[in-house]
Amino acid sequence: MRRYLVAGNWKMNLGPAAGLELAAGVAARLRGRVLRGDALVCPPYVTIPAVAAAADGNPLLLGAQNCGDQDGGAFTGEVSPAMLKEAGVQYVIIAHSERRQYQREDDDLFVRKINLLHACGLKAIFCYGELLGERKAGREREIVNAQLEGVLPRLQYVDPYNTVLAYEPVWAIGTGETASPAQAQEMHAWSRQVVARLLGESPASHMRILYGGSCKASNAHELFSQPDVDGGLIGGASLKVDDFVGIIDGAEAALG
Ligand code: PGA
Repeated sequence: MRRYLVAGNWKMNLGPAAGLELAAGVAARLRGRVLRGDALVCPPYVTIPAVAAAADGNPLLLGAQNCGDQDGGAFTGEVSPAMLKEAGVQYVIIAHSERRQYQREDDDLFVRKINLLHACGLKAIFCYGELLGERKAGREREIVNAQLEGVLPRLQYVDPYNTVLAYEPVWAIGTGETASPAQAQEMHAWSRQVVARLLGESPASHMRILYGGSCKASNAHELFSQPDVDGGLIGGASLKVDDFVGIIDGAEAALG
């Protein structure tokens, strides 16, 4: 009943020329196929206009990795949700662990960004997940609960169609180490329980929860076959046509 989402987070990789080449390659492989879920690429800001022609929703969708927390004005270096929307963006990644860590972004900022992008009609992909030390200390459920509780109840317009969750255990991001399908399922089921408590049973059962952290074509099918895993947020493996399309195929087979 939930459509899968496979989202490529290109991070700080690929300028306009290389980005267009990758997106056009993925789009060419998907063209003419009726996907049973959604496939999305999230390039760096400057690459978005070049990629927009290829990620035109037919069927490949366009996203961004971040947005500003204001409508506009004197905020040097920021890009507003409305500008992203004008450029063809439909989804924005918020609260990625790299932004939590390197930019010291916090819950108040995530709430402002998500409220603003929702008000523009954009969809949020809200990331959360525990650090290695927190898992080793057996605190992963507590951390996930706190990260969801710090943001979800404060969102003005949240619904299961404008908000996607992405559980990304930080110890699995870019490390080659993947959560086992059983570990992913356990944390996704827990997340859904937390969402049910915060937002209600019906939103929780309809909201998509993606897995992120060293997801690749070889493990996508098994991860996405878990009942509470509704697709993936893909870093490294979204940078090559074959790898990314292989993950979309894994989702089609598991979740279609
Ligand atoms: P990875 O990154 O697939 O390279 O581990 C995932 C992410 O950070 O979204």
